Amino acid sequence: MPHSKLFYLSSADVRRALPMSDAVDAMKQAFAELSAGQAIVPQRIHMPLRHAGGDVLFMPAAGIDTGQITMKIITLFEGNHAKGLPFIQAIVVLLDGEDGRPLAIMDGASLTAIRTGAASGAATDLLAREDAESVAIFGAGAQGQTQLEAVCAVRPIVRASVFDQSTLAAVEFENEMSERLGIPVTAASTASGNLAGADIVCTATTSETPVFDDADLAPGVHINAVGSYKPHVREIPAETVVRSRVVVDEISAILEEAGDLLMPMHDGLISRDHIRAELGEIVLGQKVGRHDDAEITFFKSVGVAIQDLAAAGRILANAHRDGLGIELER
Ligand SMILES: NC(=O)c1ccc[n+]([C@@H]2O[C@H](COP(=O)([O-])OP(=O)(O)OC[C@H]3O[C@@H](n4cnc5c(N)ncnc54)[C@H](O)[C@@H]3O)[C@@H](O)[C@H]2O)c1
Repeated sequence: MPHSKLFYLSSADVRRALPMSDAVDAMKQAFAELSAGQAIVPQRIHMPLRHAGGDVLFMPAAGIDTGQITMKIITLFEGNHAKGLPFIQAIVVLLDGEDGRPLAIMDGASLTAIRTGAASGAATDLLAREDAESVAIFGAGAQGQTQLEAVCAVRPIVRASVFDQSTLAAVEFENEMSERLGIPVTAASTASGNLAGADIVCTATTSETPVFDDADLAPGVHINAVGSYKPHVREIPAETVVRSRVVVDEISAILEEAGDLLMPMHDGLISRDHIRAELGEIVLGQKVGRHDDAEITFFKSVGVAIQDLAAAGRILANAHRDGLGIELER
């Protein structure tokens, strides 16, 4: 008899059940399934709440092989930091894809941070130079933390730096992440200082305009940009996009949402063909990643529901294995 109980998994349960290296592995599989057409992932519904300065995203997915269904409801409220609340909050519901049974409800903010970091970790593993050893993070928030964790899971990183428009946030990041990862993490006072000597760059900000100057990038860097998910919002300068090898999470979602690419396209600087591959196509061996050590590689993600599905499935399986979570009567 299959489990008839419904499980609740808190933020702490989610983090314990999905270590970053496991999450990177899950994201590679997820993007491969997506690019192979083995998942049903409708375009997400974006509901702006202008009166409250917030956005709500409804993100459904179903796996054909995995036999599971998820729905994530994620909220993003600009004024939340001032209230002592996180910018992003979310809940994920996981159901059985063969008979529709609800299986679990879990914290979606921690799941989102882990899977978003892990997608960049997967991209870094497939696209960054093998000898990359230093990282520059832009944005010292929840996503910035997991970007750094994920890059450290796939390359032997020896030092990192962070730049945030909030000096306080950057200093807190410096203290927390250097202790957690056991490497020196330094708060930079300028964006260009942050890029000095960086082999890998991750942007995870709420900025609506580019967060660094193209001229400050070293040859051969790999960039992960996760912040923008609106057509008029970008973190990466157009000049960088034009001279990079561009790989994305999902082309159809990118063409709806990714200002980093849509704005240069609108300005006639790049065409749709400038997007070389989906990450899943590289996992599947259908497309190649980096060509040489001098090339700049650029992974742009807006976030896709298949990531939530893959993460939630692993979390529940590992939670059962490790006895995590609370059983609820249905
Ligand atoms: N691609 C994805 O899958 C995905 C998933 C989740 C979140 N996101 C996006 O990631 C971004 C960050 O989310 P979060 O939860 O970390 O938010 P957060 O509010 O916790 O952190 C964002 C940080 O960016 C900083 N910042 C803003 N403008 C900056 C600039 N110009 N230079 C340097 N720092 C700047 C802010 O001060 C803040 O500390 C959001 O835009 C969110 O929509 C993307």
